[in-house]
Amino acid sequence: MRRLERSCNEFPLSYILVNNDDQLIGYCYIDRLLDDEQSVIIESVCVQRMSRGTGYGKILMKLVEDELHQKEPKIKCIYLTTTDKRHFYEKCGYEETTPRVRLNISSKLFNGNEEVFKNLLASQKQTAPDSHVILQKGSSVQRIATVWMKKRI
Ligand SMILES: CC(C)(COP(=O)(O)OP(=O)(O)OC[C@H]1O[C@@H](n2cnc3c(N)ncnc32)[C@H](O)[C@@H]1OP(=O)(O)O)[C@@H](O)C(=O)NCCC(=O)NCCS
Repeated sequence: MRRLERSCNEFPLSYILVNNDDQLIGYCYIDRLLDDEQSVIIESVCVQRMSRGTGYGKILMKLVEDELHQKEPKIKCIYLTTTDKRHFYEKCGYEETTPRVRLNISSKLFNGNEEVFKNLLASQKQTAPDSHVILQKGSSVQRIATVWMKKRI
């Protein structure tokens, strides 16, 4: 497993999984959550279409978790969201959890205004975050439930 060259030791981090022939097999992206220093969110987990169903997804998740555990001892929990891959993540040891506000540290929203957002969050009673994504196909619009999942590492 290698980190993408453009990625560095600071979050957000991108990881790629390559096979022994240096072929790209999988990818994922990890970012910190602004309001929780002990947690990260994993996003864009993807295995090449031809390589799916052969265990690479599980390997990718395990390698990333091991790497975080070793190199980022402060991180205790990994969060993710999914609409339709809940069973895959359950096989990887993730459990459904209460939806939370998705505040990635790299969000362009912040741009140096992190303190403002932290204060805003602290001062507001949190309303239930939107746990749906909108899928538009042609003229029909569908709301799909987003499931939040987490795993302690
Ligand atoms: C989701 C994805 C990463 C899984 O990778 P994969 O290499 O196919 O998964 P694995 O072969 O490692 O499967 C691990 C386990 O999960 C199960 N699993 C995998 N995909 C599943 C699915 N869609 N539904 C139910 N179970 C699934 C497998 O049966 C296997 O179970 P086992 O441990 O009992 O044998 C891959 O299908 C993918 O890239 N999909 C497209 C992108 C995507 O949807 N990403 C998730 C965004 S939330």
